[in-house]
Amino acid sequence: MPASHSSTWSGVIQQYAEFLPVTSATPIITLLEGNTPLIRVPSFVEAIGGQFELYLKYEGLNPTCSFKDRGMTLAVSKAKERGSEIVVCASTGNTSAAAAAYAARAKMRCVVLLPHGKIALGKLAQALMYGATTIAVEGNFDQALNIVRELGETGKIEVVNSINPFRIEGQKTAAFEICDALGDAPDFHFLPVGNAGNITAYWKGYREYQNAGKSDTLPRMCGWQAAGAAPLVDGHPIEHPNTVATAIRIGNPASWQGAMDAVKQSEGLIDKVTDEEILKAYTLLARTEGIFVEPACAAPLAGLIKAVQRQLIPEGSLVAATMTGHGLKDPDTAIKTAGFEPIVVQPDRDAVMRVIGL
Ligand code: F0G
Repeated sequence: MPASHSSTWSGVIQQYAEFLPVTSATPIITLLEGNTPLIRVPSFVEAIGGQFELYLKYEGLNPTCSFKDRGMTLAVSKAKERGSEIVVCASTGNTSAAAAAYAARAKMRCVVLLPHGKIALGKLAQALMYGATTIAVEGNFDQALNIVRELGETGKIEVVNSINPFRIEGQKTAAFEICDALGDAPDFHFLPVGNAGNITAYWKGYREYQNAGKSDTLPRMCGWQAAGAAPLVDGHPIEHPNTVATAIRIGNPASWQGAMDAVKQSEGLIDKVTDEEILKAYTLLARTEGIFVEPACAAPLAGLIKAVQRQLIPEGSLVAATMTGHGLKDPDTAIKTAGFEPIVVQPDRDAVMRVIGL
C-alpha cells in the first residue's frame, strides 16, 4: 500500500508499526513526523549535465525540520515505555533539536551536549526553546558523544543518540516511504554521512522492505562526507574534523561498520567533497529548484556532480537523495553564501524602479 497522504497521517510509528519494535503497551510520542515530500528536480539535473531522474526526499519538512524526528519518535516512545525520566544526547544540532522536542512532548527532561560555537543558530534556538538543559562542551561532537556514553552507563539516563538501536529503527521508515512513492527502490541512493546512522538505517529499511515483498530491487548506497571530516573515506578517525557543514563535522562515526557494510553490500560508494563544492551545490539547488536545504545536504548533491563527471550514473537511472535538514537551520551560512546583500533604498517608487532596472 502506498503511504497515505491524507489528513489521517499519524506519524511513522503508526504507519509502519509492523516493521518496528512496538507493542500495544508502547506509548506513542509523536509530532506526526514523516510523510515528507519526494520532489522531482529536473532543472537541477539539467544544470549538472545529468541524464537521469532525481528525486529529493525533503526531510527538512519534518516537525523539527530534520530527519532526526523519525528516529526520535521511536527512541523517546521506548524510553517512556521503560519509565525513563531523562534523555540525553550529544549532537551537532539536529539530534538535540529532535530530542528536546520529543522529550517536551513526552513530559521528560532532556539534556543535550553540543560542541561549543559549532552549532548552526537555528538548531541552538530549538534546544533552548524546547527547554532542554543545553550544555556547550569545549570540544567536538566525538568528545561529547564519549561523555554521553559514560552517562548512559550510569543507568539513570536514556541515551538517544543513534547508538540507541531504536533511532536506526525509526529512521529506516524513510526508505519505506521512498519505495511506497516510487513503487520500488531507486537505482541509487545518495545521502550525507556524519555519524553514519542514517546510511545504516536506509540500507536496513530497503532490505527489510524487499524481504517483506514490498519492493523488488535494492539501491546502490552512495554516502558523501565533507573532505575535512571524512574518516570513512580516509580510513581512520579524524582528531580535528572541520567543515562548513557543521551537521556532519564528525571524526569518529558511531555507526562506522554499518556504513561500510551498506556501501559494500549494495555495491555503492563512500567519497568526499570539499566545502567549496558543498557551497556551490547548496546555492545551485536553491536557485534552480527553489529548495533550500542546510549545507550538509549539499554534500550528496556535490557528489552527484562528481558522479556525472565520472559517468557513474547510467542514462535513465532513478536516483534518490536525502535532503536531511531545512536551510533555515543555518541562516548564517546562507547569508554568507548567497553572494549579495539587500539593496537599501529610500521609500520611493523611482528608487525601487532603478534597482529593478526599469
Ligand atoms: N545531515 C544532517 C542535517 C545531520 O544533522 C546529520 C547528522 C547528518 C546529515 C548525518 O547523518 O549522522 O546519521 O550520518 N546529525 C547528527 C546530529 C550528528 O547530532 O544532529 P548521520
